[in-house]
Amino acid sequence: MHAVAMKLFIDTGSVAEVEEVAGWGVLSGATTNPSLLAKEGGDPGEIVMRICELVDGPVSAEVVSSEAGGMLAEGRALAGLHRHVVVKVPFSAAGLAATRDLTAEGIRVNMTLVFSASQAVLAAEAGATYVSCFMGRVDDISIDSTAVLGEIVETLRGSEAQVLAASLRHPMHTVAAAKLGCEVATVPGKVLRQMLQHPLTTSGIERFEADWRSRPEFADWLGGLVAGAR
Ligand code: E4P
Repeated sequence: MHAVAMKLFIDTGSVAEVEEVAGWGVLSGATTNPSLLAKEGGDPGEIVMRICELVDGPVSAEVVSSEAGGMLAEGRALAGLHRHVVVKVPFSAAGLAATRDLTAEGIRVNMTLVFSASQAVLAAEAGATYVSCFMGRVDDISIDSTAVLGEIVETLRGSEAQVLAASLRHPMHTVAAAKLGCEVATVPGKVLRQMLQHPLTTSGIERFEADWRSRPEFADWLGGLVAGAR
């Protein structure tokens, strides 16, 4: 049972970053894309498989062909890498056709680069498990991403497709996605680290530690308690 309805994926091509954040116990999956993988050294297949093991949940790996036949062949091959792989397919007419065929074979699809409710309707109808709606890139062109995402969530309500908030640039994008009712948000490592921070948490911990140290006998008591519990 999750504390909030929205699941968190990490948006990255970095195994080291997944290793770091997977230890927090908050990740349900991951997304990669060609740009993120191109920033990393090493074999992309090995990276995707290692991320699959680390997150033990859905990991999106993207096709790069522009026609349906190529997407289908790449999608089948990517899905064969690991049971957790979800095939990421860019939105287009060819992408919709490939999504229909891949899902008919039992391969899960994350339809990406969705920017409007009308595109989301088509992606869901083609059988996509996840519909990736980009927030940051919408804000970049001076369109309110929360309005667009809210309309997509409302439009897909009752559909089997899950709305996946992507292109998140700061913690408030994550909060907005949760408040709007997205099933998943894929969050870059940098933003996840920002979500950890609050000055009052830092100062609060410092105060508790200092007050505890002001009573040295407390450390002996707690040490004994821990040893007895082992
Ligand atoms: C989605 O899965 C994409 O990988 C990603 O969120 C794109 O984000 P960007 O706009 O920061 O490149």
